[in-house]
This record gives sequence, C-alpha cells and structure tokens, in this order.
Amino acid sequence: MNDIRPIRKAVFPVAGLGTRFLPATKVMPKEMLPINDRPLIQHVFEEAREAGIEEFIFVTGRYKEMLEEHFDFQPELEQTLEARGKTDMLQKVRDSEIPAGRLFLTRQPRPLGLGHAVWCAKKLVGDEPFAVLLPDDIIQNPTGCLQQMIETYNEKGGNVVAVKNIAREDTGKYGILDIDKDDGHTVSVKGLVEKPEPAKAPSTLSIIGRYILQPEVFEYLDAFETGAGNEIQLTDAMARLLGRQQFHGLRFDGNHFDCGSRLGFIEANIAYGLADLDIGADVEKIVRGHAGNFE
Ligand code: UTP
Repeated sequence: MNDIRPIRKAVFPVAGLGTRFLPATKVMPKEMLPINDRPLIQHVFEEAREAGIEEFIFVTGRYKEMLEEHFDFQPELEQTLEARGKTDMLQKVRDSEIPAGRLFLTRQPRPLGLGHAVWCAKKLVGDEPFAVLLPDDIIQNPTGCLQQMIETYNEKGGNVVAVKNIAREDTGKYGILDIDKDDGHTVSVKGLVEKPEPAKAPSTLSIIGRYILQPEVFEYLDAFETGAGNEIQLTDAMARLLGRQQFHGLRFDGNHFDCGSRLGFIEANIAYGLADLDIGADVEKIVRGHAGNFE
C-alpha cells in the first residue's frame, strides 16, 4: 500500500532554552538570532513555504512571543518605509508576513524534549502526514531541503528524514541510522538510535532537523517515554514506526549548518554573507583579511 497524501502542514519546535547561546538567549529566543538579514525561524519558514506548505505550526514556550510577532503585519513600519520610498525594504518586510489563517500556535509548557514538542502539535496536525523543521538546521541550496524531501516522499511514501555523514567521534550528538539499502542518494532505514556512543553507532549517517512523518508517530509519542538525556526523543518514537511503515533517509543537496552551536552559527553567517549580492565581495575581503592575521 502506498497511500501518498500531500504534505500541507509543518511543525516548527521553538520552545527550547537555547542554553548554548547564553547570555544572548536569556530573553531573546535562539530562533530569532539572525543569519545575514533574517532570523533562523524565517529561513526555515521560507524553506517550508517554497515547498508548498500551507499551515505553519509553531510549538512555542515562555519568552517566545517575539517569534509570532516577527511574522505579523507591521502597519507603522510599512507606512514609514513607503513614505521614505524604501520599496526594497518594504518588499522584504511584506515577504516576512504569514497570511491570515496560516499560522497556528501551541505551547510546550516545559522543554521535555523534541518528541514532546512535536507531541504538543498533535491536535493541530490531526490525521495527516506532516513535516517538522528545526530552525537550528539551516541548509543553503537553490532547491530547499524540504522540497527535495517531498520529491522523495512523492516517490516512496512513508516517512523521510534528511541525513548527512558525520565523523564517527560525533555520533553521540545525533540521531543515527541503521541502514538497510543505500543507493548513494536515498537509504532505506531499518533502525534508528539517538546519540549512540561511537563504538556502538550502526553507521555514521545522522539525521538532521528535517522530517516528513506519518501521523501514527503520535501513537508512540503518547507514551511520554524518556530516552537519551532523559528527554522525550522524537527518534525513539520514529524507531518504533519502523517495520510498520516505510522509512527513508535522503542525502540532500546543499550546505548544512548546525546553527544550534556557536561555530555552526558563525560559519552560516559567513556563508550567507559571502553569497549576498550586496555585501558578498566585502565579506570576502574581511574574511581574507582576518585569515591573513593568522598566517
Ligand atoms: P535543541 O536541543 O538543539 O535546542 O533543540 P535547545 O535545547 O533550545 O538548545 P541548547 O542545547 O540548550 O543550546 C532543537 C530545536 O527543538 C526545539 C528548540 O527550540 C530547537 O528549535 N525544542 C527542543 C523544543 O521546542 N522543545 C524541547 O523540549 C527541546
């Protein structure tokens, strides 16, 4: 049976504490930190919009109101930009608005883990397949990562995760795949382990923060079982779906930046700065200048 229903909804878990960026994230949500001219959350929102997502579900928490404000209509700002003839900026501001009836909010009262954050969206997702995008993971590519995954999903159905190869010594930081078949582009998955020790990791292919999931995953998240780090892990619930449903990993095209870490965040800012038509050449001069200081 290959019942391929369209992916119309995306869940954005944004209720984490962002402790790796303290004190920057004492009051400001981590997901509002900017990569070049737009915050992390807008990068992933745009990726989802380009992939045809119609409903955007934010799982927010305390001190996270700024995230929903960011996507709202800002009349005074728009009027001022219009009066000053700043049409480019006005366009950028308008483009960051989520149209009426498309943004849905739910709250995760305590950051009990990614699996729990996704569970909080259960009612809003309902009985249909959906996407999950983590704003920590930014992928720079002309065709967005979620779009690539939807293409794989339209072919294979079931569940699809974005994957990339990592160094074996780093397996303890990620969800890792146990691979059944691998054609170099798509892998079929027979097992999933969250944060295994390097010696016990079944492969070095790690899941990064993009998922297409079938609604049955909620049956397992309902159990509220804790796993690695004493958190309710999404990977553990997905692992239980294996055998019952198809699971594929997609080696996506594009540069991936782990913006949940300070190093990945800085690297992403350099990469997006270099790719920016207005400032790219100057960013390159700056980077080369600094590199020269260390030679
Ligand atoms: P992380 O574990 O990387 O984020 O979760 P964190 O806990 O906020 O960051 P650190 O490790 O303390 O620095 C990845 C994504 O999942 C969300 C986060 O907001 C982030 O976007 N998340 C995580 C939740 O919404 N709820 C949780 O309980 C955990």
